[in-house]
Amino acid sequence: MVKICCIGAGYVGGPTMAVIALKCPSIEVAVVDISAPRIAAWNSDQLPIYEPGLDEIVKQCRGKNLFFSTAVEKHVSEADIIFVSVNTPTKTQGLGAGKAADLTYWESAARMIADVSKSNKIVVEKSTVPVKTAEAIEKILTHNSKGIKYQILSNPEFLAEGTAIEDLFSPDRVLIGGRETPDGQKATQALKEVYAHWVPEDRIITTNLWSAELSKLAANAFLAQRISSVNAMSALCEATGANISEVAHAVGKDTRIGPKFLNASVGFGGSCFQKDILNLVYICECNGLTEVANYWKQVIKVNDYQKNRFVNRVVSSMFNTVSGKKIAILGFAFKKDTGDTRETPAIDVCKGLLGDKAQLSIYDLQVTEDQIRRDLSMKKFDWDHPIHLQPMSPAAVKEVSVVWDAYEATKGAHGICILTEWDEFKTLDYKKIFDNMQKPAFLFDGRNVVDVEKLREIGFIVYSIGKPLDAWLKDMPAMA
Ligand code: NAD
Ligand code: UDX
Repeated sequence: MVKICCIGAGYVGGPTMAVIALKCPSIEVAVVDISAPRIAAWNSDQLPIYEPGLDEIVKQCRGKNLFFSTAVEKHVSEADIIFVSVNTPTKTQGLGAGKAADLTYWESAARMIADVSKSNKIVVEKSTVPVKTAEAIEKILTHNSKGIKYQILSNPEFLAEGTAIEDLFSPDRVLIGGRETPDGQKATQALKEVYAHWVPEDRIITTNLWSAELSKLAANAFLAQRISSVNAMSALCEATGANISEVAHAVGKDTRIGPKFLNASVGFGGSCFQKDILNLVYICECNGLTEVANYWKQVIKVNDYQKNRFVNRVVSSMFNTVSGKKIAILGFAFKKDTGDTRETPAIDVCKGLLGDKAQLSIYDLQVTEDQIRRDLSMKKFDWDHPIHLQPMSPAAVKEVSVVWDAYEATKGAHGICILTEWDEFKTLDYKKIFDNMQKPAFLFDGRNVVDVEKLREIGFIVYSIGKPLDAWLKDMPAMA
């Protein structure tokens, strides 16, 4: 029986290994982590992450060929294939702070593999890493090898949160990069055979190591760039009376462009896009490619601009102050169908409104109160000028209440901000909500989920990203 061990039981390691276990009953999969609470949660009925479809798979495989454990060294030493899926956040201090990937966790995992291995191993980079990381890892492993042979493969993960299981079941492609030596090709073939249990062969792409590593950064940069492009266009739509949904639809009809990933929003969030672009920018700078670095940096600048623009629009529409006003925040997660709040635009928007002394009542379907409070009191890392900005003062955080019902959040509110596109927000009884709000009642839709015309008929003053402004908003100049 082939044994797989995955180091890192996070958003990628957990779901990916659960799907491998489900699709490959002949393989034993152990997911290990240094975090005991995380492993305990994976072994309980309350999994540490919310992902549609995940619970059922874990229930089906756990204890059969899928195991979650803190016995990291034991499972690593027994495995034939070791996936490394640890976090690779942006460095917050030292050389490259604010841009470079922090490979501390990766390096410590590699050193541990070298320490405990007693047989040959295939080590698979699952984490998103800078180009040439495989070379560094190879050096760590071979210099400490005690005669053991290692093959390093790059197998970046392309799943998106909220659709992880769907993405893993039927990926657009699986990418495997390896050395172009006979041993490298053998290792590539071994990993290919794992995926071939359910992924059609023509969707499994093999490349050299550096192409695989760079393709992951490139794919995320292209995706984020699309969002910044449509968001930049949304500002122009508001200035001219064009409608971003119509523009995106017309543009996306061009088969060379395609219709997906063209939804204007309050800004992209999530643990990957900003981190991976910053990483790309840093690699370009290290290679003397200043123009290329500046080009990609602009994707993040437009994203920051979009979040600021949204806050300014809220404040200026409401007579240039939200001091003491209750604002309902609908949605805090960085996208629907996840409880993940890493880099969610809601953090920046809430902090912006609290900075103007608003009182916030926050409702999200999956994010806990503890998480929201932690996020709002955390220091914000400024990627452009790596210094730690001040966290919200305890007094400001007191202006936040977290509730478990959209009607409760909006009761008595002066305004509503929709910051996550949860399906529930499309079908709320907006007449009832309007009746219970202060007047004039404002609604700022950062995700284009509501029917603007219907809400205007009810009596709301509605702002929806990139949509034609009503007379009220036109009279209230707002600009970042
Ligand atoms: P995560 O923070 O959810 O999980 C990482 C886990 O690794 C944590 O539980 C941590 O305790 C564990 N860990 C760290 N060092 C360890 C060590 N030495 N030994 C054992 N466990 C250790 O991160 P994630 O979101 O799963 O992301 C993992 C990697 O995958 C990152 O490089 C990320 O960029 C990449 N990625 C993420 C996504 C996503 O949607 N989240 C998608 C594609 C790729
Ligand atoms: C992303 C990539 O899609 C995935 O391939 C990679 O493996 C990890 O990073 P993820 O961050 O989980 O996945 O979610 P994604 O669906 O890409 O959304 C990222 C952010 O962009 C979210 O805040 C989302 O709301 C926003 N977004 C997405 C838009 O604002 N408009 C869109 O059209 C699409």
